[in-house]
Amino acid sequence: MERENIIENLEKELINVKNKNDLANLKATYLGKSGIVTNLSLKMKEIPNEEKREYGKFLNEIKELVTKKFDDLLKEIDKRELEEKLNREKIDITLPSRRKMKGSIHPMTRVVEELEDLFVSMGYDVVNGPEIDTDLNCFTKLNLPAGHPARDSQDTFYLDDDYLLRPHTSPAQVRTMEANEEKTPLRIVCPGKVYRRDDDATHSHQFMQFEGLVVGEDISLADLKGTLELFAKKLLGEKTNVRFRPSYFPFTEPSCEVDVTCFKCGGKGCSLCKQTGWIEVLGAGVVHPNVLKMSGYDPEKYTGFAFGPGIDRFAMFKYGITDIRQIYTNDIRFLEQFDRKDVE
Ligand code: DAH
Repeated sequence: MERENIIENLEKELINVKNKNDLANLKATYLGKSGIVTNLSLKMKEIPNEEKREYGKFLNEIKELVTKKFDDLLKEIDKRELEEKLNREKIDITLPSRRKMKGSIHPMTRVVEELEDLFVSMGYDVVNGPEIDTDLNCFTKLNLPAGHPARDSQDTFYLDDDYLLRPHTSPAQVRTMEANEEKTPLRIVCPGKVYRRDDDATHSHQFMQFEGLVVGEDISLADLKGTLELFAKKLLGEKTNVRFRPSYFPFTEPSCEVDVTCFKCGGKGCSLCKQTGWIEVLGAGVVHPNVLKMSGYDPEKYTGFAFGPGIDRFAMFKYGITDIRQIYTNDIRFLEQFDRKDVE
């Protein structure tokens, strides 16, 4: 009797169940801690022994039936919810796909890659150095001991007494020579960021240099000249001429400054070259014997040449950039202009 009632009631109540939440609540009133079916089980102890068997059977049946009803309804609700979801989320396959953001290669990266390709084709290795380096590597081992007046010409960012943001890529020379334990001949270039206290349309506190170093037997100024002429012509065009002027750097002897035909006017004279027809692009020279010696190379056996252009200017010329600071502000609108298709 009770059994029929229970099932009948349950069926009535199940009709009102709308979702999983209702279902869970209803389930608790039947099968929960003090639910209807649970209470029936607790009554077992009041049942006389001879009826216990019958009552147990009844209990199992009712539990099974109630549980099945709940399980069936849960399955139904799951199915209904899935159908609703599928109806809601109709995919319109005719919609245009979402546009992918296309990056572009930074003009400085292009110039660096072009130069790396050129030097690698001449047998050079590309090396990297840290942007924070020691006073020893940036100055002392480049023949600029503490107190040397030429240190003042590079208004430097010091982090403490020993460490600084490198003001040039020349410490790459020291690092490479020191790392070469056998002290064998070397041919390296080192592109990288350098830092000085400068800030105007043609000077940025951060800019790029491209250091070069060759060490070997019988390396001379003539090798340097040939290399730099090739470098200038490849990067700026075959018509480019190169002019060497005597100069001074503590780490080279002799030292020179190198000018190229003005890339704006082709040598006729304009505002960029201050009517001279020439633009200064780099410092270079024959490696000072002290520099070789301090990094463990025998200056009696080996000689070398080194050079260090600032290369932002090349990117400015090639891509028509008028303010060097734009190269470093990471403005997407500026960078988007250098999509490969537009430039090449
Ligand atoms: N390091 C120098 C500078 O930043 C440039 C330079 C000059 C590099 C002569 C060299 C060199 O390797 O031989 O002004």
